[in-house]
Amino acid sequence: MASQIGDTRAAVRNRAPIYEALSPWLSPGTRVLEIGSGQGVHARYITERRPDIAWQMSETSAGMAALCDRLSREPITTQPAPITLDVRQAWPAGQYTMIFGANIAHIMPMTGVRALFHHGAAVLEAGGHLCLYGPFFDTRQTAGAGNQRFDAALRARDPAMGLRTRQTLDALAGAAGLVPAACQIMPRDNRLLIWSKR
Ligand SMILES: C[S@@+](CC[C@H](N)C(=O)[O-])C[C@H]1O[C@@H](n2cnc3c(N)ncnc32)[C@H](O)[C@@H]1O
Repeated sequence: MASQIGDTRAAVRNRAPIYEALSPWLSPGTRVLEIGSGQGVHARYITERRPDIAWQMSETSAGMAALCDRLSREPITTQPAPITLDVRQAWPAGQYTMIFGANIAHIMPMTGVRALFHHGAAVLEAGGHLCLYGPFFDTRQTAGAGNQRFDAALRARDPAMGLRTRQTLDALAGAAGLVPAACQIMPRDNRLLIWSKR
């Protein structure tokens, strides 16, 4: 199941499997824009192992203080400072090879998920990838009990949160000009979903 906001234990637990799964998609020179970097656990782990890629962390204004606090104590010196980014607002003007987000789609409201695909596709270069790690439902499969409990707990906390279905995300991706490229099964009933820009 996914991490809670402000809790890095899940990120520390899943950083190595995410790195392993993402590695084949990270060619030298890849420019990654990470959405909802949290406390930079994935950025740190991956860029320490792949100094040949560029990783732009981002956080919402609400999450930026915790990220900056972490980075002040444990700097990531090889990568640029994080930028403030709420996916529903203005995105950076740059072009990226990859948009990556871990455990974000069930936290942001559907307006955010829609904006993520719409704006994310716009800043991706042709042939680039949008990658989401986390727990998802699949309408063709019965959901695992852990993910069902997690979804119920999220919705009880905030009705705008909740696990998204792969089919919903595929539809949003298709509307934005992205095609499904991979669905990798990850530990603890998570997935790494990847869409490619034509
Ligand atoms: C569960 S945390 C995951 C943090 C980190 N990626 C990890 O795996 O440890 C959810 C993240 O989604 C981000 N988030 C929520 N709504 C967002 C939005 N509208 N735009 C960008 N990020 C958002 C939060 O700021 C937070 O960093």
